[in-house]
Amino acid sequence: MLASPTEDTMGEPSSSESFDKVLREFYRRYKRVLNGGSEKAVALHRSRGKLTARERIERLLDKDAPFVELSALAAIGQYDDQFPSAGVVTGIGKVQGRFVVIVANDATVKGGTYVRETIRKHIRAQEIAIDNHLPAVYLVDSGGIFLPEQARVFPDRDDFGRIFSNQARMSAMNIPQVAVVMGSCTAGGAYIPAMCDESIIVKNQGTIFIGGPPLVKAATGEEVSDEELGGGEVHARISGVVDHLADDDVHALEICRDIISSLPITEPQVVNRVHAKDAAFSSEELHNYAVVKPNLPVDHKAIIERLVDGGEFHPFKQEYAKTIITGFARIDGYQVGIIANNGVVFGETARKAAHFVQLCNYRKIPMIFLQNITGFIVGKKYEHEGIARDGAKWIHAVATSTVPIISIVTGGSYGAGNYAMAGRAFDPRFLFMWPNARIGVMGGEQAAKVLTQLKKPKGKNGAEHNEKAKSEEEIYNEIKARYDYESSAMYSTSRIWDDGIIDPANTRKILSIALEIVSLKKWPEFRSGVYRM
Ligand code: COA
Repeated sequence: MLASPTEDTMGEPSSSESFDKVLREFYRRYKRVLNGGSEKAVALHRSRGKLTARERIERLLDKDAPFVELSALAAIGQYDDQFPSAGVVTGIGKVQGRFVVIVANDATVKGGTYVRETIRKHIRAQEIAIDNHLPAVYLVDSGGIFLPEQARVFPDRDDFGRIFSNQARMSAMNIPQVAVVMGSCTAGGAYIPAMCDESIIVKNQGTIFIGGPPLVKAATGEEVSDEELGGGEVHARISGVVDHLADDDVHALEICRDIISSLPITEPQVVNRVHAKDAAFSSEELHNYAVVKPNLPVDHKAIIERLVDGGEFHPFKQEYAKTIITGFARIDGYQVGIIANNGVVFGETARKAAHFVQLCNYRKIPMIFLQNITGFIVGKKYEHEGIARDGAKWIHAVATSTVPIISIVTGGSYGAGNYAMAGRAFDPRFLFMWPNARIGVMGGEQAAKVLTQLKKPKGKNGAEHNEKAKSEEEIYNEIKARYDYESSAMYSTSRIWDDGIIDPANTRKILSIALEIVSLKKWPEFRSGVYRM
């Protein structure tokens, strides 16, 4: 698993002491979620002859094939930490030599039920399948919606129902979908196998029903067992809801691998790729460039040198608007355009970036955005010069880009800078955070200063003097602490604002896999909007 740590990368980061601490904390938390639910729940699961969600994925994938796990730390710090990985493991890996998107419910986590983050992960995996025309495999073992959360997960557009409407749309786009029913598949969840092209069920283990036995009893008085109502034999021999009956998990996954090998291959994008040169530096060196303190510059020149083939970078407009680095390089042989922040954004910075984004689009070169951005320059001079107009050009260019963008947040991603640098709202194909990264409308310190001004206790000339009013310092400290907490990478990844936190040392490997994935579907022609000149 590359987007996530592996035992051999859990070694000795050569970083500064503070980043070392952040990295170790990340690994500690990641290792914990790898176990899934409680020891008791895992033991019960195994006693039923089932593999765990991660073991199922491992069995499904080609031997030694990479697996980019997405949002492994979803839901962390929420729900009293009762939902490790939000109860679902999602990612992209190779089956029979081709990339597929995998969604595997973890039944050891509250019966594999769905809270908001579970749904977001499931839908995000489907989006990735759509964007890159990848087959999707659902390893189903879930009790459906986590009922106490129903008001937060059921009614809205991107709630539980979206999973099924996506399935229908994906099918219409000719994206193959396969379900392997390895446990419960209840209520709305029953539509997962029912809406797939091909479905497999494990005998005496998988069940599919719109309403389980207790509901049937309550509704009609009929008494029926799980197996009689919707077990493997029923659906393979009587209802026809599934197509294959498997003896156990391993057998079901073998059938799934056979199905994947029969799927048609779609026409990929023609990309400029040459034989790759090795990186010029050891990947662990990137730890030295992960800046923990907010608002400090990040040495993107050094980072780029460590990410690209042979350390070779060909800058574009090197002498102009130096607060943005733009240029071309190769990663694993793939030609890429790189945009990296190098300070605050001025008008010329935005114009240079917009120019470069257009260039990459017309040349069909995928782009890598390295984000460490505090925002756009403020002040009368700059407003008069039209910084809003220049920023708009850049944002336009990014939003209408048709070549894939992969965003890595190496430092801070604040305010409108987040938009220009292909934040989540701008549909980068992937967005990963380094463990030290931060994201928010503004930095903690700035927010505290602004809000302290707004909330400051009113004096004689103010409306009302409140004896209990907090001191300016108290207000400042409270606001800063909240902003710092809410803008951390952990907070972001818990809410699926990104595709996961990655060890900086894995960035090059992940970019290489991501570039292969995004090249699997043809990219549309670029058409720019109207820029205000
Ligand atoms: N909502 C909330 N909690 C649920 C749940 C649901 N839909 N389904 C299961 N849980 C919880 C259980 O309360 C239990 O919690 P605990 O660990 O705090 O005790 C945990 O998940 C495991 O459930 P349990 O029934 O002990 O495990 P199991 O492996 O024997 O069975 C299910 C799992 C999913 C088959 C079974 O719990 C079930 O049928 N749930 C109801 C499914 C349903 O009707 N869903 C409709 C919603 S769309």
